[in-house]
Amino acid sequence: MSYVAITGVGSCLPKRQVTNDDLVARGVDTSDDWIRDRSGIGARHIVSEGESTLTLAVGAGRMALANAGVAPEDIGVVIVATSTQEYAGFPSTACLVQHELGIGSVPAFDMAAACTGFNYALTTAHHFITGGPAKHALVIAADALSSIINWADRGTCVLFGDGAGAVVLSASDSPGILSEQLYSDGSLGDILKVDQGEPRETFEGTHDALAPYVFMEGRKVFKVAVESIVKSVTHCLLDAGITADDLTHVVFHQANQRIMSVVGDKLNIAPEKLAMTIEKYGNTSAASIPITLDDLNKQGALKAGDLVLMVGFGGGFTWATTLVKWTKS
Ligand code: COA
Repeated sequence: MSYVAITGVGSCLPKRQVTNDDLVARGVDTSDDWIRDRSGIGARHIVSEGESTLTLAVGAGRMALANAGVAPEDIGVVIVATSTQEYAGFPSTACLVQHELGIGSVPAFDMAAACTGFNYALTTAHHFITGGPAKHALVIAADALSSIINWADRGTCVLFGDGAGAVVLSASDSPGILSEQLYSDGSLGDILKVDQGEPRETFEGTHDALAPYVFMEGRKVFKVAVESIVKSVTHCLLDAGITADDLTHVVFHQANQRIMSVVGDKLNIAPEKLAMTIEKYGNTSAASIPITLDDLNKQGALKAGDLVLMVGFGGGFTWATTLVKWTKS
């Protein structure tokens, strides 16, 4: 069994939904029209009392295990891609998930690649299965970016939401993961970063002088995202020996509907193949790809043999493309 395939998928969103109009009511100097027009976002979910990166990660992980029909004790590695770890430093969120889900004493660690984290974690888990004793891996992407947003900055606060998505990867007799392209360019680190600044305004309206938060040069990020995705997807399709016409679903990182549409046009991907959850969830960072994959799965849109392209990009700057054949029926 030298191949690796996705055998389960799940997701978890915070219970509190915040619409664009809720943001206006909260005092953000914006409008539903502006946000929808510039990003395609209508609402996002934000953690509240009793919810955190960990609770979202556990919820998504539990659902993916159930969907795969894999018992916790059969998981051989746990990876959590996140930029908002439960604790700053340690223990890792992955270790806490391992304990909460009753997984054995297997390797568990977090992975920091911002919104590209899910693709990075998938590739890492893939190698754990092909190169080691693990038969199944639990890959979770979980972020509560609302906790590192400055809610006084209308240029960023309207874009992000919280959530988690997860997949189980398993050793397989037939190919699941077909191609993986991972990239980084640290010279672009400044265009999207978490740094110290003026006291951060929390969603609740208090101020925290020591808290770092997201800084973004939106226009530069837009341009770099489009250029890097086009190159990465082109390379991935060449590597797999297929064309955009062969793809069944394309799951872009849900950062901006306009980015997805522009890139889709440049790559000649039919618009109906673009999976979109941005309108209801906003940009959930690393979690957006598995959340959208789970959305497709719940709609019954994923069929055995489908070719699914998953494309991440974000802080670092990092970007990545993963092509999988859906093997679940
Ligand atoms: N509501 C209303 N007006 C806003 C606003 C908001 N939430 N945020 C910014 N504006 C204003 C600006 O102040 C500016 O006003 P001015 O013309 O009077 O100076 C105007 O809107 C245009 O701002 P600009 O930043 O140039 O808008 P834009 O068309 O580039 O759209 C983004 C802004 C952030 C939506 C867009 O650049 C973007 O999506 N970039 C990529 C971001 C991304 O994907 N990040 C995550 C990557 S993982």
